[in-house]
Formats: sequence, structure tokens, C-alpha cells
Amino acid sequence: MSETDEDTQTEIPPDDTEVDLEAEFHSSNVQEVLDKLDRELVGLIPVKTRIRETAALLLVDRVRKQMQLSSETPTLHMCFTGNPGTGKTTVALRMAEILHRLGYVREGHLVSVTRDDLVGQYIGHTAPKTKEVIKKAMGGVLFIDEAYYLYRPENERDYGQESIEILLQVMENNRDDLVVILAGYKDKMDRFFHSNPGMRSRIAHHIDFPDYRPDELLAIARLMLAEQNYRFSPEAEKAFAQYIEKRRQLEHFANARSIRNALDRARLRQANRLFAGAGRKLTKRDLMTLEPDDILVSRVFSEGRPDTVDGAVPENT
Ligand SMILES: Nc1ncnc2c1ncn2[C@@H]1O[C@H](COP(=O)(O)OP(=O)(O)OP(=O)(O)O)[C@@H](O)[C@H]1O
Ligand SMILES: [Mg+2]
Repeated sequence: MSETDEDTQTEIPPDDTEVDLEAEFHSSNVQEVLDKLDRELVGLIPVKTRIRETAALLLVDRVRKQMQLSSETPTLHMCFTGNPGTGKTTVALRMAEILHRLGYVREGHLVSVTRDDLVGQYIGHTAPKTKEVIKKAMGGVLFIDEAYYLYRPENERDYGQESIEILLQVMENNRDDLVVILAGYKDKMDRFFHSNPGMRSRIAHHIDFPDYRPDELLAIARLMLAEQNYRFSPEAEKAFAQYIEKRRQLEHFANARSIRNALDRARLRQANRLFAGAGRKLTKRDLMTLEPDDILVSRVFSEGRPDTVDGAVPENT
């Protein structure tokens, strides 16, 4: 037995030492992030539950470490699947904050990338590109949107595989300082994992983001408006509920993202409506309120097609 073994043995707290998990929880300020998640995001109950469970796991792991109950750092790489605009990026940002507050990553920032940020066009370009991104993300979360595009088996000389190999290594060797979150459609992700078992085996948490129901989309609209000091008149809210019903059936529907875009256009129309009636003085209420006309002139009603293409190009922010 070496000296160090004896040293650690004397430090091990006796079995009946107590910890106050709740006090630990409070001092980590994780509750604040969870509250924010509840406040800012409508619905998503299964997702919120999973995030809370993960936070509990990490908290217990941290307390166990304090008690010298050594175990491996849990694998924290995750996969978020769901259609566009279901809140994946937003939740990833919160997850980064939680990991930071519990001491699992040093900085808690999120670096969001897609294939083009990782994979080069020419031989020799991919490794430096991928490594540069990893360097930026170290100490935080690397969020890879539509991660399955890294793998293009139909193209023999594709450099995506090279990027995957580097990522796999880092995910294994640096897992106490970098958490990777893969995001994208569920079916494509399943196929990707099928062909890349190495990637699948490194990911411990799979979280599925369901599409929003119409009533949830309306609640999201109300929340988004309130955040910007707008609101629907009662009639406008009815019109927007109809808008949601129609828009959901059309192509490129992108859940909450389509709602945000629709509200941006409604605000534009409201401004024009107010400007057109510029002869009269406006009240605060006028400035805040969206009316049915601001919604009903959408092409969704007249032509049965979206005003713009909402979901085709996912935004990563
Ligand atoms: N449940 C929700 N409640 C309120 N706002 C939401 C909710 N889900 C998403 N949003 C809002 O909708 C927009 C799109 O969300 P986010 O970017 O997180 O989705 P995403 O799943 O990453 O989409 P994409 O696949 O298109 O990147 C953001 O402005 C976000 O704040
Ligand atoms: Mg996103």
C-alpha cells in the first residue's frame, strides 16, 4: 500500500455522513434555469421532465463525488430529435447552462454548427475545420444540427467520415469538458445511428421533441406577443387560431418557428394599418393590439399557401 492510498482512505467520510441534497440543489442555481425553461417554453412536458431527471442525476453524481464515492463521469452526449421549430436549439442552450452550473463544463457556451462548418471541400481541409470547431466548443456544448448529413455513404470520397472519426475520439477522451448534442429529424437520425454504431454508443440521452398541438401553438403565440408587449384582440385571437389550423396542413410548416414568422408579418401589417389611419391619435392599446385584418390577409387564407417558406432552412440560433 502506498502512502496515497492511506491518505485517501482517511479522507473517506463514514457511511452515516449526511448531505443536504436540497441545499446543494439551491446553491447550484439550477432551479433558476429550470424555472426559465418552464416559463419560456409552452408544453414540452416530456422534454422538461427529461431535463429535470438529467439535472437530478448530475446533482447526485456531484454529491457522491464529495463523499468520495467515485464513479465514472456520466456520459452526457445527447441526441435531440424532432421536426423543425420544436424547441431543440432553445433547450440545448438551457442544457448548456445547467451543465455549467453543475460544474460539468467550464464555460457553458453553445457552439452551433452544421456539416459545412465541420467538413471541407478538398482533401486535407476537414481535420483542421473540425478541430477548430471543437476547440471553440471545448468547455461547453457542441450542437450539431442535422448531424446525419455528416455521413454520405453514396459519395465514396466524402470527407464527412473523417469528421465523424475526430468527433468520436473527442467525445470519448474529452467527455468531462465537452458535451456534444446531435439534433435533427428522428427517422434520419435513426438511420445515421444504424450506420454509425460508434456514434450511437457514445450517446446516452435521446430526447424526442413532439410537434405542438394547435392549442399549444396558440399559447406559444400569446407568449411570444406578450414578450414583446403585443396582444391579440379577442377577434384576432380567433383569426389566429384559424390561421394555425390552415398553416399546419401546408408545406414547410415549422412549428413554433412558423408561429414566430407569422407574428412578425402580423406586426408589419399592424404597423401599416396604423400608418394608413395616421390622421387620428393612437392610444397605447392601439399600438399593442393586433386585429383580425392583420392576420386574415395572409396568403394562407386567400391562396392556401404559406406567405414565406418557414421551415426550409433551419436557423441555428
Ligand atoms: N415550447 C415553446 N414555447 C415558446 N416558444 C418556443 C417553443 N418552442 C420553440 N419556441 C420558439 O420557436 C423558435 C424556434 O425554436 P428552436 O430554434 O429552439 O427550434 P428548433 O427545434 O431548434 O428548430 P430548427 O430545427 O428549425 O432549428 C424559437 O424562437 C423559440 O424561442
Ligand atoms: Mg434549431
